[in-house]
Amino acid sequence: MALRGPSRQPLSPLFLLLLLLLLLPWRCPGAEPAHPEQVHLSFQGEPGSMTVTWTTWVATDSEVQFGLEPGEILPARVRGTCSPFVDGGILRRTLFMHRVVLRGLTPGVRYAYRCGSIRGWSRRFRFVALRPGPDWSPRLAVFGDMGADNPQALPRLRGDTQRGLYDAVLHVGDFAYNMDQDNARVGDRFMRLIEPVAATLPYMTCPGNHEERYNFSNYKARFNMPGDTEGLWYSWDLGPAHIISFSTEVYFFLHYGRHLVQKQFRWLERDLQKANENRATRPWIITMGHRPMYCSNADLDDCTLHESKVRRGLFGQRYGLEDLFYKYGVDLELWAHEHSYERLWPIYDYQVYNGSREAPYTHPHAPVHIITGSAGCEELLTPFALIPRPWSAVRVKEYGYTRLHILNGTHLRLQQVSDDQDGKIVDDVWVVRPRHGRRTYF
Ligand SMILES: [Fe+2]
Repeated sequence: MALRGPSRQPLSPLFLLLLLLLLLPWRCPGAEPAHPEQVHLSFQGEPGSMTVTWTTWVATDSEVQFGLEPGEILPARVRGTCSPFVDGGILRRTLFMHRVVLRGLTPGVRYAYRCGSIRGWSRRFRFVALRPGPDWSPRLAVFGDMGADNPQALPRLRGDTQRGLYDAVLHVGDFAYNMDQDNARVGDRFMRLIEPVAATLPYMTCPGNHEERYNFSNYKARFNMPGDTEGLWYSWDLGPAHIISFSTEVYFFLHYGRHLVQKQFRWLERDLQKANENRATRPWIITMGHRPMYCSNADLDDCTLHESKVRRGLFGQRYGLEDLFYKYGVDLELWAHEHSYERLWPIYDYQVYNGSREAPYTHPHAPVHIITGSAGCEELLTPFALIPRPWSAVRVKEYGYTRLHILNGTHLRLQQVSDDQDGKIVDDVWVVRPRHGRRTYF
């Protein structure tokens, strides 16, 4: 009888697969792990500052080199922080998020910069430092609901950015579809896609329902917004406007904390009080939140309900935002979530309060609502209900985005760009308010 050694079981295919998964470096195929990517800017409210954020796949130093444009050399250097972000997916992928704040920038001046470390540098980007005072005319691109797949508005937004059409971007929730998807690789892909825009302009955000996974962790980690709420709610000043960003999602994902509804509401009221005290300097109060109070789409979303949660609140109609925004004389409310564009007549409690028959948006007696969620995503466009509502002024079921030009303290312009019609302006309206504030609504 032949002697046999210890029997050897062949390794199971499942075990081999798991081993392979463990050994693979979890990063973008082909990317150098220390090379900066997903570069984007934000404005955290401090005059003369700009925040640069980027991602690497290993921990490295965080440095931004910058200088006046045009210029070959980048003489100024600033260091920042690097912190790991562990995605909640099964692979627990780790991204290293770098954050550097540039300070002492000269308003209105163009800078060049690159970011990274001696282990790898980004390419060179450019931005214009925001002006701090109220006496200039900011131009913004506004949209929501843009995905990593089918981002219809993005090529035109990139072109607009290169042509210097904007001072900042407002992305009104719902990114990538979804940033957590495929162990956050979809988030990486989306952040790379928007880089030509977001590394040039402050890319200001609010959370949408598609950011919900792992308690909005991808949203909180990837964007650096003003304040100390990880970007859930904050406000900032831009020219003659005070812009308030907030989370409609606290009304829907109550398992992350019912107390957030009250906490945010109290913060909103305090912020609106302060904004009204400063109204002589910054007359416009503009809000941005993802899910609208009103909409006339043919779905079952909250905004199609007469008593929508965002409008009327929760817990026995407490913390509703319509009364709060009306009370403090909010001028313009920017929303998304519905994959279409809709402009409402000035409205409060289902009543239309046009300024006059001839000029509805001149001295309107209630806030103006714009729903702009048609930047493009895998869920395509949302149809409208067949019969328009009496409070609905314009409805466009086409891909596109909104241009907002805050000309001065009394005049602002909204234009809807259609990507389906090669950039044609399909809606164009001036909002004129000689006087601002709550009392002008009565
Ligand atoms: Fe949404």
